[in-house]
Amino acid sequence: MKEENLLIDVRDLRVYFHIEQGIVRAVDGLSFKIEKGQSIGIVGESGCGKTVTALSLMLLHPQPEGEIESGNIYYYPDGDRCIDIAKLGIYSRQIRNIRGNEIAMIFQEPMMSLNPVYKVGQQIMEAIRLHQKVDKTTAKELAIESLRRVKISAPERRINEYPFQLSGGMRQRVMIAIALSCNPNLLIADEPTTALDVTIEAEILKLIKDLQRELGTSLMMITHDLGVIGEVTDEVVVMYVGKIVEKAKTGKLFEKPLHPYTKALFKSRPEIRMTGRLSSIKGSVPNPYQLPEGCSFEPRCDEAMDICRKKAPDLYDLDGHCVSCWKFNLKEG
Ligand SMILES: Nc1ncnc2c1ncn2[C@@H]1O[C@H](COP(=O)(O)OP(=O)(O)O)[C@@H](O)[C@H]1O
Ligand SMILES: [Mg+2]
Repeated sequence: MKEENLLIDVRDLRVYFHIEQGIVRAVDGLSFKIEKGQSIGIVGESGCGKTVTALSLMLLHPQPEGEIESGNIYYYPDGDRCIDIAKLGIYSRQIRNIRGNEIAMIFQEPMMSLNPVYKVGQQIMEAIRLHQKVDKTTAKELAIESLRRVKISAPERRINEYPFQLSGGMRQRVMIAIALSCNPNLLIADEPTTALDVTIEAEILKLIKDLQRELGTSLMMITHDLGVIGEVTDEVVVMYVGKIVEKAKTGKLFEKPLHPYTKALFKSRPEIRMTGRLSSIKGSVPNPYQLPEGCSFEPRCDEAMDICRKKAPDLYDLDGHCVSCWKFNLKEG
């Protein structure tokens, strides 16, 4: 039986790429839930599988090389109605309804998503009319309203401008306006502030958080920077090469990170360094075709033990704070 407020329930999801060099297990047995109105953060270095995870929720993972091998993406749009997105056809009517309408996504580089040859207003109106049966005049009013909602000043004038006439922060606001124009159940933001200045970043994060609260939308915030998560999300999932290494309420994770990888992510943040030296995590994310036999993080881990080289740990649940590290194995350790 499903929990009352559940929106998304991902179970043991595997998304693999079959390419010449071999198999890339981009998402390798991922399980997490998103409740209605909840915000969840997905954190990890580049290449850890964050974007593929997000895209697969809408069946937009790169195809045909990428494939959902197994697992479920249960989606509860309303009441007890349940759709397993993982089982839908990529061209099915159901998934086309969900994309952009019920689940919307914004990306790192808004210029990539905006069409350079159309005015901003036209693009918002087009998004609105794709999902709502309204005439042009109403669509224009809604477009202006949606720009006002993302705190763009003089929206009546802005709708007549082209994307290149806007700053990076302003373009990201337009993308947020488009994403929210159909009142999605889930907003996915994939590194939405990575391309922006720090001051603009803070404004955009606040905007996303405020709108999410106001509209009661669920939010999935993807980032490589733990600092971005702290203020914005209720729960954090830390990913390392396709797997969850730690999952906890944001407060708990910030108070006491357990996994050596999470601790290393904290240490590599400039704002919270204490020694005056910025330590980046030693080594790099392993080559996906040559993963170590045991724990994937073992080659970079300061606390590795013998067993870590031999066998990957399970995800242990310590009172709601989940961690995949042999140090926390209560049965065999
Ligand atoms: N089209 C593709 N073909 C082959 N491998 C891919 C493709 N897209 C992503 N990958 C691989 O999947 C893994 C996860 O990528 P991604 O989800 O983009 O990581 P992140 O968003 O965390 O930086 C990486 O090893 C990446 O190289
Ligand atoms: Mg990414």
